[in-house]
Amino acid sequence: MMSYITRLLTSSQEDIEYAAELIRQGELVGMPTETVYGLAADAEDPEAVKKIFEAKGRPQDNPLIVHIGDISQIEEYAHDVPDIAYKLAENFCPGPLTMVLPKRDRIPDVTSAGLDTVGIRIPGHKTARALIKASGKAIAAPSANLTGCPSPTTAGHVMNDMDGRIPAVIDGGSCPVGVESTVVSFEDGRIRLLRPGFISAEELSEFAEVIADRHITEAALDGEQVRSPGMKYRHYSPKANVTIIEGSSEEYLEYVNSRVGDGVFAMSFDSAAADCKIPCIPYGDTSEEQAAKLFSVLREFDEIGAKQVYAQCPSSNGVGLAVYNRLLRAAGFEIVKIGGSLKTDREGF
Ligand code: TXA
Ligand code: MG
Repeated sequence: MMSYITRLLTSSQEDIEYAAELIRQGELVGMPTETVYGLAADAEDPEAVKKIFEAKGRPQDNPLIVHIGDISQIEEYAHDVPDIAYKLAENFCPGPLTMVLPKRDRIPDVTSAGLDTVGIRIPGHKTARALIKASGKAIAAPSANLTGCPSPTTAGHVMNDMDGRIPAVIDGGSCPVGVESTVVSFEDGRIRLLRPGFISAEELSEFAEVIADRHITEAALDGEQVRSPGMKYRHYSPKANVTIIEGSSEEYLEYVNSRVGDGVFAMSFDSAAADCKIPCIPYGDTSEEQAAKLFSVLREFDEIGAKQVYAQCPSSNGVGLAVYNRLLRAAGFEIVKIGGSLKTDREGF
């Protein structure tokens, strides 16, 4: 792999033009989006896309999302687009939604990881939109973290993981959504939810029946076929061991407060933080706040050298399902259920 002196760019038009030139030359750029930072390259340039897999240490069988500027361009990259896809696009795009569609040949195999489909997303972030426009390219971009690490929601996070591995990162501030896009595919007029995100299953179900992939809340079995390849990997993990504690706030506090120890931390709701007797980094009360903070809080635990983190189990309604799904992977599916207060509405959409 090449080694670079990584430049931190601003979101000025001049810097975006510079970044767009890097993209046209087949180089990688850290790009802010409304969800998380992406590692951007020309989606139609196989050599550039290969550099993404190298820089991230990403398995070759995990396809990349292709970012475009406008709904009218979908059919340049995909075919047999169902009506329901257009309905969703009209309602949610530009925004944090990725639609898996049959791909056209111009999308190289390396981008789609050999699949005959492509994930198409029209980002809403103005810097991402400006970079797509200035480069004149469709942009392949996975999250800009090293594979396995929490996704980056600031330019600093991208620098932590990618310094020396790519020529530039555009600083667009903190990502407002904080978790990656909702990924869907289509089956006989129904929507299959492959990865939950800011656009919730409840919102999607206003347009068609939603079927949720089992892997959203359960681990893949060894060798099992997974529709969204990214869902099978242990993911988003800080170096600490993360355990999710499911129960009422009182039960959570009782559990963590009896576990004082070297390197032991709580990751609680804001409303429970004052009653934590072990060191705590709170991650918000509402699902939206928790989505926005989740990955940066997981990275903070690394910075302070946490060894064990007890996380208060988030709601799995609405955007909460995305938070729960990411936290489950950060915890390697390690979850402790306390008492009779189990949340029961996990299947309730
Ligand atoms: O919000 C986002 O989606 C961010 C920003 C940068 O746009 N990108 C992102 O990309 O999260 P990545 O590569 O970290 O995650 C893409 C997910 C993976 O789980 C992958 O398996 C799935 O989308 N995916 C992509 N193309 C697919 C396809 N053709 N079929 C099934 N799943 C696909
Ligand atoms: Mg990712």
